[in-house]
Amino acid sequence: MLNPGRVSPKTEFPGTGEFVYTQADFEMISTLIHAHAGIVMPREKAMLIFSRFTKLLRAQGLRSFSDYVEMIRTNSAERKIAIEALTTNHTNFFRESHHFDHFEEQVRSTLIDELRSKQRVRMWSSASSSGEEAYSLAMMGTNSQLARQILDADIAILATDLAQHCIDAGIKGEYSSASLRDIPKPLAEMWTSNVGSNFLIDKRLRDIVRFRRLNLLDPWPIKQKFDVIFCRNVMIYFDDVTKETLLHRLTDHLAEGGYLYIGHSERVPSTLASRLVSVGQTTFRKVSA
Ligand SMILES: C[S@@+](CC[C@H](N)C(=O)[O-])C[C@H]1O[C@@H](n2cnc3c(N)ncnc32)[C@H](O)[C@@H]1O
Repeated sequence: MLNPGRVSPKTEFPGTGEFVYTQADFEMISTLIHAHAGIVMPREKAMLIFSRFTKLLRAQGLRSFSDYVEMIRTNSAERKIAIEALTTNHTNFFRESHHFDHFEEQVRSTLIDELRSKQRVRMWSSASSSGEEAYSLAMMGTNSQLARQILDADIAILATDLAQHCIDAGIKGEYSSASLRDIPKPLAEMWTSNVGSNFLIDKRLRDIVRFRRLNLLDPWPIKQKFDVIFCRNVMIYFDDVTKETLLHRLTDHLAEGGYLYIGHSERVPSTLASRLVSVGQTTFRKVSA
């Protein structure tokens, strides 16, 4: 537990004692992170901030968190680095697989019909982390005899995340062989190849997934509407107002009849009831106006 006033990590935390970290520093950092990324940092996260920021302080040659607070308050590039350091990027291929089953059973054939009638299909993995979610969707969307036809059609998946290192990993499309076990075997055989001890996502899929850095709290430079949006396991870090505002904005960007998938512990508030109807476990469809 942090005490008010200047405290030494040596006595308060299992740190190196090299840095000075006070409750006031923690409060300033949590206010900044909330204002810029929507992420709520309760007091239990005080040590997480300490451990993730010490590397950043060292890189800047600083010994005191209050100096670093001043730096991230005034320097937006360093603030981005600090916010990224606090994100949790855990993900895996076909995470919460019931969403991909729903997509395969209820959504894919409609989208293929749209592609056949020369319309385009747009999907968005809106907190994509390192890309596993977007590539799972791409594999699911193209898992059929029609793969070639689909890949030649106007289909695109936008994958966005706040963390630049996640975007870089997604663009690379190379993952450790341990994560291969999360991909159904026929899909892994069709869409991945080995590179050393890792595997690489097939270029044809990498070409339909477009990665961009995007903070969901900022204005979105996106005009199009999406047939499918995944926004999973990011709202858990946000406060209620941020979640609700985000869900309304996502719904604005859904095509009528489009599908929204959210994380297993996330909920849609009642103010969205006239816009989104539940069609499965944490799965929603935008109602026609
Ligand atoms: C736990 S991961 C979830 C990844 C994937 N959606 C899944 O369910 O497996 C949460 C991701 O949200 C991103 N994130 C956190 N705050 C964000 C924000 N304000 N805007 C965009 N992405 C954010 C983090 O960088 C992280 O990669």
